[in-house]
Amino acid sequence: MILTPQKKSKLTSNELNRVIETLQRGDVIAMPTETVYGLAADAENLEAIKKIFALKGRPIDHPLILHIGDKKDLEKYAVNIPSFALILADCIWPGPLTIVLKKSARVSDLITANQDTVAIRMPSHPIALQILKNFAHGLVAPSANKFGHISPTTAQHVYDEFGENIPIIIDGGSTKVGIESTILNLTSEVPTILRPGIISKKMLENILGIKILSNNEAPIKNQPKVSGSLKSHYAPKTKTIVIDGAKLKTGVNELQKSKKIAVLSQQKKPAQFNGVWLIMSKNPNTAAQKLYKQLRELDRLKLDLIIIENVDDSDQWSGIKDRITRASVSF
Ligand code: TXA
Ligand code: MG
Repeated sequence: MILTPQKKSKLTSNELNRVIETLQRGDVIAMPTETVYGLAADAENLEAIKKIFALKGRPIDHPLILHIGDKKDLEKYAVNIPSFALILADCIWPGPLTIVLKKSARVSDLITANQDTVAIRMPSHPIALQILKNFAHGLVAPSANKFGHISPTTAQHVYDEFGENIPIIIDGGSTKVGIESTILNLTSEVPTILRPGIISKKMLENILGIKILSNNEAPIKNQPKVSGSLKSHYAPKTKTIVIDGAKLKTGVNELQKSKKIAVLSQQKKPAQFNGVWLIMSKNPNTAAQKLYKQLRELDRLKLDLIIIENVDDSDQWSGIKDRITRASVSF
């Protein structure tokens, strides 16, 4: 069921108790984070973690992010913590950055897909933080969608995906960031972005004062397992393609002769186009915030094709570029 708290930013003590008891029982809840909604379970309960894999239909070799409510909990779950991790935790947490570190013995192999590293983040949504601060352990929380599908940015999206199969879906409003956290590997020789997000490479370089690598600059060998790195991921069910801005209008003109199409673009809808045409913001933060909601809206139309206008190659757009590229791989 969807639990609509009296306030979107804080659970009452009754609401909180229900959530904590559900987690203590080893059940899964859906909670808002600032990026996307997550399916959360006790990170120290193997049966609870298994439920997450089963619910999502997620292959067992795709590791989970461990969420913590206090920077001090880093030491519970990671070892050999480099100073870069502490600096980033101070500057960005709570916030949309996940860091990959050497795992401590407390972290089960089920969370890490048998790797010796663990991905950790401290989310900033006040309800996620409230739960984490009041629960004795960390929470594993993948995005609350079926494996490979679009991540949810509202409680209703989670309900559409899982219905009554999750005992509590907490409604914390539309998520602010809208795409998943940036993942930074701090166990490689040079810190490397494994998944781009709204915390950009330049921001990380400015904070750390060093050069870091982006996902496509990293050497292929020894790459850790990142499920978001599968080519077709975050994908609508409708076939989706990306077209460069300069070719968009002619492309749309041609394609609409033989197909039912919908468009997500920064350009205005041309007068002769009679389908659904959604506008992507020119501000990357706003574009990210709306992206998955808009893709779901277009997917629901069950047309032949979704066309997304490409975005520019700059650092600020790298998270969105990554997601629309993955959404558009044919499957
Ligand atoms: O914003 C987010 O990170 C959201 C919210 C709910 O916190 N969570 C999320 O989780 O996106 P999920 O499971 O959908 O994606 C987790 C990503 C995957 O790409 C996974 O492969 C990667 O984190 N990951 C987890 N552990 C890792 C590790 N030890 N090394 C490298 N990548 C890891
Ligand atoms: Mg996901």
